[in-house]
Amino acid sequence: MMRNCFSSSIRQTLYPSTSLFKYLQKPHPAKSFPISSSSSCSFPTTTPLFLRPPIHSASFPELKKWQDWAKHLALSVGPKFLESDNGPDADLLCRELKWLLEDVVVDDENATASAASGVVKLRAGLEELYALWRQRIEERRPFQYLVGCEHWRDLVLCVREGVLIPRPETEQIVDLVEEVICEDGGMREGLWVDLGTGSGALSVAIGRLLLDAGRVIATDLSPIAASVAAFNVRRYGLQDKVDVRLGSWFEPLQDVNEKPVGLVSNPPYIPGDHIFGLQAEVARHEPRIALDGGKNGMDALLHICEGAATLLKPGGFFALETNGEKQSEFLVDFMTGKMKGRFRDVRVVSDFAGVHRFVSGFCC
Ligand SMILES: C[S@@+](CC[C@H](N)C(=O)[O-])C[C@H]1O[C@@H](n2cnc3c(N)ncnc32)[C@H](O)[C@@H]1O
Repeated sequence: MMRNCFSSSIRQTLYPSTSLFKYLQKPHPAKSFPISSSSSCSFPTTTPLFLRPPIHSASFPELKKWQDWAKHLALSVGPKFLESDNGPDADLLCRELKWLLEDVVVDDENATASAASGVVKLRAGLEELYALWRQRIEERRPFQYLVGCEHWRDLVLCVREGVLIPRPETEQIVDLVEEVICEDGGMREGLWVDLGTGSGALSVAIGRLLLDAGRVIATDLSPIAASVAAFNVRRYGLQDKVDVRLGSWFEPLQDVNEKPVGLVSNPPYIPGDHIFGLQAEVARHEPRIALDGGKNGMDALLHICEGAATLLKPGGFFALETNGEKQSEFLVDFMTGKMKGRFRDVRVVSDFAGVHRFVSGFCC
């Protein structure tokens, strides 16, 4: 989570620049969603750009003028942000500009007809585009909040201020779950829990791996996160499989009689006094509740670890994300030392960058 999430070119990789239709496989039409499985929140305010109707338009010269202005602003950043706090450099900002255009410009048959008359159909007006790009450069507002979504695994998840932007390394938790359920098919039919679900990334991805009887309960203390998660769950048609509940860690599970077969969590794990030094996009804009893991970053991890021992079914699987290295080692020592006999096969798993990021194992 600490890593610079704004330096990846994943978006570009998944969606070649030859097509503006990168959302061809949109899971469900946007429309109105009565939000939430259990949480009673509704999806907040601004609709992600790619889900908005194309009710705006601009002439080619007008759009080009905006694009030239935005590119100039991006180039003026040079390596400044990178050098000051590992933020985005001009190259990355220029790529983001391209992605923003892909989200905003409509590219369908009707649009082609309009284009013939020199008009481009847009999902946001030019005035808004000028304002959004200023926010990106001048306020360091994360690109994902600007467009309202993040590409994560094979999903396009809606996000907004108040909910953590899911990070690429967290995708690996789903791989760990997939490994386990491939070995033990029964796990596809049991109950999974995702504690601190944020945008619902893990719950949606795991929900899609389960068979009919399998389900996921996702919890989050933040009403905004719970509501965004429920929105994403519904957008992927998983509302009968993934239940989003508002509340602190295990509390929303009190009425659940079934013992879960699996638990995943990417809890806040940044030591509180390190947050100020993070990249401006993170420190200024992402929710503190999603980042701050207390004095040494371990508060939530230890709490979840203790709870998992009593919550999970014997043989139940867990995978936890940590800040890496020392935190992973500390957690393994805790599970095999103070909590000896409660877990087995506890191991540290590295992320793709080689950081000892995850701790996984089984309940005894
Ligand atoms: C690091 S974010 C992870 C979000 C998501 N799982 C992901 O990987 O993108 C941690 C999440 O834990 C939630 N959280 C913080 N304290 C919590 C608590 N006491 N109970 C439940 N969730 C909590 C935050 O709101 C945030 O959504």
